[in-house]
Amino acid sequence: MDLHISGKKALVLGASRGLGAAITAALAAEGVQVFAAARTADTIPPTEKIIPVAVDLSDASSVVALIAMLNAQGGVDILINNSGGPKAGPVLGQSSEAWLGAFQAMAMSIFSITDAMLPGMIARKWGRIITIGSSGVVQPIANLALSNGVRAAVAGWSKTLASEVARHGITVNMVLPGRIATDRVAELDGLKAEKTGTSIEAVQEASRNEIPTGRYGTPDEFAAVAVFLASSQASYVTGSSVRVDGGMIRGL
Ligand SMILES: NC(=O)c1ccc[n+]([C@@H]2O[C@H](COP(=O)([O-])OP(=O)(O)OC[C@H]3O[C@@H](n4cnc5c(N)ncnc54)[C@H](OP(=O)(O)O)[C@@H]3O)[C@@H](O)[C@H]2O)c1
Repeated sequence: MDLHISGKKALVLGASRGLGAAITAALAAEGVQVFAAARTADTIPPTEKIIPVAVDLSDASSVVALIAMLNAQGGVDILINNSGGPKAGPVLGQSSEAWLGAFQAMAMSIFSITDAMLPGMIARKWGRIITIGSSGVVQPIANLALSNGVRAAVAGWSKTLASEVARHGITVNMVLPGRIATDRVAELDGLKAEKTGTSIEAVQEASRNEIPTGRYGTPDEFAAVAVFLASSQASYVTGSSVRVDGGMIRGL
């Protein structure tokens, strides 16, 4: 199926590995020119369609520099808001520094970048804003306090923005990963194994047993959904949170 986005421009945040890298590759395969941003942009191989860009989302001045570069390039049509996940830990005893740091890296930076890209999208009467969340937005995950708390704020922001810009041909959606096999998920499984004194294989086996499909998803399966939301065909999907979780979230 031709998604009718060839020739569009995109920014993918958190593009050096995992979900962001898979979305970058999938958009480029559709003929989209992608600015692929991460702290370690030098690890992203540049191609005819992929332009690596360095940014640190935890640093407001780095975000300002990214916005200036994007504006000089005429903005983007497709924005994939993604970031690294914060440190695991409980609510009890979290420092205000940790909360503020997580909010800057996962929320404030994407609010600023989105706000800066919207005037161009409004002028062109077309835009796609897709924010990567987590199953924790629907069903908070134990011991991921910073992630659960900040992502709930991001979900409220995304839903509110969807109504504000819908009449300009701009859709605003979230994609919620359950357990997709990336480095981050392997790291979290490793931490859990250490904490519980079991092997990583045992942790992964227990995790697979909680997922109706009986397996973790692949980054490509996740990227396919994000890219569909970026397509011209997805023009009537806005304000949605689409789960890509193999049925893991139990609630309706
Ligand atoms: N995979 C899953 O199943 C799953 C489930 C629930 C939620 N999530 C969330 O979805 C997001 C992506 O997941 P993932 O599994 O792809 O994570 P990942 O493998 O850890 O990748 C995170 C990406 O974000 C970049 N990044 C991290 N900190 C950054 C910063 N300060 N500034 C700019 N870029 C930064 C990383 O690149 P650099 O290190 O080069 O900067 C990397 O490209 C994360 O927020 C994760 O918590 C994932």
